[in-house]
Amino acid sequence: MKKLLIFVFLLSFVRSYGQTPQINLIPQPVLLKQNEGSYQLTNETTVGFNNPLCGNVAAMLAGKLNTSTGFAIQSMQGKPGSIEFDLNKVAVEKLGKEGYTLVSTSKGVTITANDPAGLFYGMQTLLQLLPKEIESRSTVNMSWVVPAVEITDYPRFGWRGIMLDVSRNFFTKEEVKKYIDEISRYKFNTLHWHLTDDNGWRIEIKSLPKLTEVGAWRVPRYGQFGQRAEPKQGEAATVGGFYTQADIKEVIKYAAERNVTIVPEVDVPGHSMAAIAAYPEISCTKDPNTKVNPGSNFSEWYGNGKFKMLTDNTLNPSDDKVYDFLDKVFTEVAALFPNQYIHVGGDECYKGFWEKDPGCQALMKKMNMKQPEELQAYFMKRVEGILKAKGKKLIGWDEILEGGIAPEATVMSWRGIKGGIEAAKLGHYVVMTPTTFAYIDYQQGEQTIEPLLYAGLRMSKCYSYEPIPEGVDAKYILGGQGNLWTEQISSFTHAEYMTWPRGWALSEVFWSPKESKNWDNFVQKVEKNFDRADIEGINHAVAIYDAIIAVNKKDGKSIITLSSEVPGLDIYYTVDGSMPSTYSQKYVNSFELPEGPVTLRVVTYRSGKTIGHLITLRPEDLKKR
Ligand code: ACM
Repeated sequence: MKKLLIFVFLLSFVRSYGQTPQINLIPQPVLLKQNEGSYQLTNETTVGFNNPLCGNVAAMLAGKLNTSTGFAIQSMQGKPGSIEFDLNKVAVEKLGKEGYTLVSTSKGVTITANDPAGLFYGMQTLLQLLPKEIESRSTVNMSWVVPAVEITDYPRFGWRGIMLDVSRNFFTKEEVKKYIDEISRYKFNTLHWHLTDDNGWRIEIKSLPKLTEVGAWRVPRYGQFGQRAEPKQGEAATVGGFYTQADIKEVIKYAAERNVTIVPEVDVPGHSMAAIAAYPEISCTKDPNTKVNPGSNFSEWYGNGKFKMLTDNTLNPSDDKVYDFLDKVFTEVAALFPNQYIHVGGDECYKGFWEKDPGCQALMKKMNMKQPEELQAYFMKRVEGILKAKGKKLIGWDEILEGGIAPEATVMSWRGIKGGIEAAKLGHYVVMTPTTFAYIDYQQGEQTIEPLLYAGLRMSKCYSYEPIPEGVDAKYILGGQGNLWTEQISSFTHAEYMTWPRGWALSEVFWSPKESKNWDNFVQKVEKNFDRADIEGINHAVAIYDAIIAVNKKDGKSIITLSSEVPGLDIYYTVDGSMPSTYSQKYVNSFELPEGPVTLRVVTYRSGKTIGHLITLRPEDLKKR
């Protein structure tokens, strides 16, 4: 089997079969065999299906094809179509719920699956087999050819997620739908919707109307998050927004049609300043002047995982009225979201206000608790009880392990992989989303030119991720997820820029067989996907073309090493302040920076044309490295 896999895998890299088109599928399918020949779409093409459950995907495909081809392709049940979607009458075990087979010949295309989810993914693969112009939103006159292939494909992991933070920056429901559409193309099946935080409460809770009347709005501030001015006395809170329950239902339906499950997050007991602004009585300090935070600094970080909140953003775990509040919230959330999981946060909860609160201290004494972390564990166990009563399962960030994990909790490992390892060893399910491989809010290229953030994560690092930690029983690893926090993201197009292409790397990590990883091949596919995204109007970064500058200090000298993520680029540089070009020094080997206040400029070229951004490191930048 392994030999067969390798053979078929190598076959998939043979890039040219005479006149047959090159195949660039992301994520890489499990088995792909390219045959001679192709099928050409025409106005005579039909889309058929064998079961009413296939109607949605068949209609979706016909609509998409007609937009760019200008044809009037119809979908219909009963008669075999030239593109045929069939549900297997007897399930093929290895395909599971999301797998599919796709066979294209000169006569047409047949996609089969056990479940509509698999047909949806077969459709996405078919679209990627077609010329990139299929993504056009207007008619293009060209030859629409599908190469002849045989594909068998199914996911490595059942949880393939992206988290979108809509609290720090509000995205409209149309934007969220567009995001769902984009992630589903790459076979992500989970949108973790971070709906509440210090900077905005985004989901209508009818029994607690102030959560959105007050909690969804903050004062207008722009610029670096964490350095903005505090709200002024009496200043109107005009920036924000929220989803009505009707909006939420609409988004859930849209997602379900694309095999995307939405996992809502209500982040408690920390990260709750927006809720406290609406209902101050749910905190220990009960400060009626609490405001939704506009991105001002209210915390101190000490670099060892320790921190202090200067403003109280935590719920009071010792107050029964807080659990009544949460019961109301989760009753409505549970009724809206059909999936089994509700994410309850649990991250970065400062315990300092609890340590000063008589009620919390009395509870600790009564329960014989030694550490304030046990208060959070107590809180989470009660929240788990609330969710269980509504038929839901609790998932939270890895801090929920501290002080004793709730009995049936699932853990999202974000502070590296250790939380995931610990949870799995305790027999809890885990979703792997470590900062080091999966935080797509981090800078994706050279730090001086990418939008500012305190850490970096290149696409190659995302691609190198292996979600199953060594020594852990794989059955506990549900899968993985990329997280898009939006403190520094103030528009939807910037959210896209941060997501792509790193999301493509993660899609392959979570879907494709581990054995099929191949960086050079993946980079080629990414470049082809850039063209697709450009046709469709999806923003993406091109940071993979930029030079990577490493500065190593040795005996008081700075040794410069240049490289690039995309193989085979030419790198030119200057150290005399002039603009680098093909007339400048071409990089071959590491070199010593000359003495003096030197400015280093670097740029990449391919085939004699600039392809990367110009990077300028002034003497003060170089000193810091
Ligand atoms: C997190 O990044 N605070 C989960």
